[in-house]
Amino acid sequence: MSLELKSPENERAAIQVPEEISNLSTPFNGTLSSQDGDEYDVKNNIIDILGKQPHFSSVASYTNHWKLTATIYEEIWRKRSLTLFTGEDFPIEKEHELLIEWTEPKEGCLYLDVGCSTALYGRALKAAQQKADIIGLDFSMQMLEEARIKAEADETNMFFVRADGKHMPFFSKTFDGIVMGGTLNELTEEARVLSEARRVLKENGVFFMMHLIKSDAWYGRLLQESMGIGGIKFWTKNESNKLFNQAGFKVEKQIIRGIVCFSKLKPS
Ligand SMILES: C[S@@+](CC[C@H](N)C(=O)[O-])C[C@H]1O[C@@H](n2cnc3c(N)ncnc32)[C@H](O)[C@@H]1O
Repeated sequence: MSLELKSPENERAAIQVPEEISNLSTPFNGTLSSQDGDEYDVKNNIIDILGKQPHFSSVASYTNHWKLTATIYEEIWRKRSLTLFTGEDFPIEKEHELLIEWTEPKEGCLYLDVGCSTALYGRALKAAQQKADIIGLDFSMQMLEEARIKAEADETNMFFVRADGKHMPFFSKTFDGIVMGGTLNELTEEARVLSEARRVLKENGVFFMMHLIKSDAWYGRLLQESMGIGGIKFWTKNESNKLFNQAGFKVEKQIIRGIVCFSKLKPS
């Protein structure tokens, strides 16, 4: 499928993305232009809509732009983290099962992994439905480069776009599904990103969200408060659901294990 992006310069101008960019076994380098002529670099298949380093407003967002964080993130941290946060044996396969069950990726449909890091969710969607198209979006080039390496190794063809979730380069009602794993807690303007997600999701689309909520235990809260200094935020279940409702989503399903909250959201 060829993809159409929205120019950040003019919200009516489209940027046509050829399908071959998602074929990661063939490196693609060059530029893409919008109908208005503004140009965007494509480096090793990664489409750079941002073009500049984002403003780092927290330690968490800063460290995501380190090569070392990107390289060790998935194997050393991500695949083990839910066992720690749920307080039970929670292998990545269990998380993927829920992701696929609630998202139900379909042939010919288009899915977005927001704040994808190494695109663990995006790759899982593609593995479950080869005939779906997947876009991984992150503002960290280092994370996207690592995601690209992992996707090519898995023989997963997908698009990678470097952009800010606060200004998604997509036209309204583009996606059949959106997935977001752990990113909500790291966003500086979560309401803005959620309302962008609502804008680009189709009316019958689905939004799979995994995020961390406030701990019930005093020592957990203390730890979470100290993490707040680094830019990681936590909400209670009710506060999270209020955030989702305000952005135009209703909660269709929700499971909480320890401080991990999985939600299936639909446009309200
Ligand atoms: C906790 S990690 C996400 C992990 C990933 N979704 C997963 O399931 O493994 C958060 C990611 O969101 C990205 N991020 C944070 N704020 C962002 C923003 N405003 N726009 C785009 N990406 C953002 C960071 O660069 C980082 O890669």
